[in-house]
Amino acid sequence: MSNTRVLTGITTTGTPHIGNYLGAIKPAIEATLNPNTNSFFFLADYHALIKCHDPERVAQSTREIAATWLALGLDTDKATFYRQTDIPEIPELTWILTCMCSKGLMNRAHAYKASVDANRDAGSEDLDDGITMGLFSYPILMAADILMFNAHKIPVGKDQIQHIEMARDIAGKFNHTYEELFTLPEAQVDEETQLIPGLDGRKMSKSYDNTIPLFAPTDQLRKLINQIKTDLREPGEPKDADNSTIFQLYNLFANKDESATMRSAFENGIAWGEAKRELFEFLDAKLSAPRARYNELMNNLDAVEAELHKGAEKARAEAAPLLEKVRIAAGIRPLTYVAPKAEKQKAKQKELTAEELARIEEGRRRAILRGAQPLLDQVANAEDPAAEAKAIVAAKTDEVASLKKKAKQKAENELEALKAEWADLLAQ
Ligand code: TRP
Repeated sequence: MSNTRVLTGITTTGTPHIGNYLGAIKPAIEATLNPNTNSFFFLADYHALIKCHDPERVAQSTREIAATWLALGLDTDKATFYRQTDIPEIPELTWILTCMCSKGLMNRAHAYKASVDANRDAGSEDLDDGITMGLFSYPILMAADILMFNAHKIPVGKDQIQHIEMARDIAGKFNHTYEELFTLPEAQVDEETQLIPGLDGRKMSKSYDNTIPLFAPTDQLRKLINQIKTDLREPGEPKDADNSTIFQLYNLFANKDESATMRSAFENGIAWGEAKRELFEFLDAKLSAPRARYNELMNNLDAVEAELHKGAEKARAEAAPLLEKVRIAAGIRPLTYVAPKAEKQKAKQKELTAEELARIEEGRRRAILRGAQPLLDQVANAEDPAAEAKAIVAAKTDEVASLKKKAKQKAENELEALKAEWADLLAQ
């Protein structure tokens, strides 16, 4: 149990592109090589239904994304690789969590608010026009995806950070209401892979229609690369590698030497046409082996299906026992069930390893600090942070002394968390 559990899912609504590969799939597969991680990767096909009502597209995307992971060398003995809809425990947990989630929390979700804003901008009378309950409560489904496997780290794009925080909130609510069954997950955002440019130079994304499909056939790959936006510099004129989509894409696939060679070609005024040809040949060569495997898998979907079934079995072996505990904790029990004595539960908690206890404690501390974010900001922005921290701690200490029981405990906890966070400053 000392393993860090890493979990991520890809919604099955599109064809995997170079941005998905560099930003999500490649780092995820690399993480499986670390023996201290336990990886869970899945096809988020229930999520697909939220934004796509074209069944052929959902089905085809599911095939493509499954085959892509495998073609890129995901070792399904090292990771648990599954399709969300093969795990019936997930929607069951979703409902239980739905009952632990305030509606207000969902009102604040970015995706929902963006739709409401769009309706407002369009002058629509009904601000919820066209918004399904699926879209509205989708962060709860995502929380179930994550909490079902007690995942610690969730590698995601920036747009998903809020959802991980919501999953933490929901987990906290359950843990507090019933029993400490859920790990509080954390988002893991890799800044570098946030910046993968698409054909028009903006972030590569399905929604901008500027993607390069990862396994585009050679001819299509060449055509797409030829569409990459460039500036008007003539052949022979030095070019700015760091502001060029061509260079950036090249760089993301290149080793140090290859990248340095390309950079000097830019400095020496390589023609745009030439640079595009270099990029095309480079990518085509890099992708040809996995593309061949991909095409084989797409022609042998039984083999892909078998991998998913194997993954579903492994995943359910984890999910089913946890869901059973969740149900029992919430009171969904066999009629004859007798709750273990409080002592027994305490003894159980004692069995936690020091590391687990430390993790729980760290999660608790972070939750407290999140609530105290304005104070943290105040100190971070102060001219003299040490003096500011000391002043706040002094004021809080007085406040704690004047409070009664329950409020006192809460304020004390916050004070302790702040003291720990500012230990260095307070010692100055
Ligand atoms: N919502 C995520 C996205 O659009 C996909 C996703 C679904 C996910 N469930 C997840 C990602 C759980 C991480 C963990 O990118």
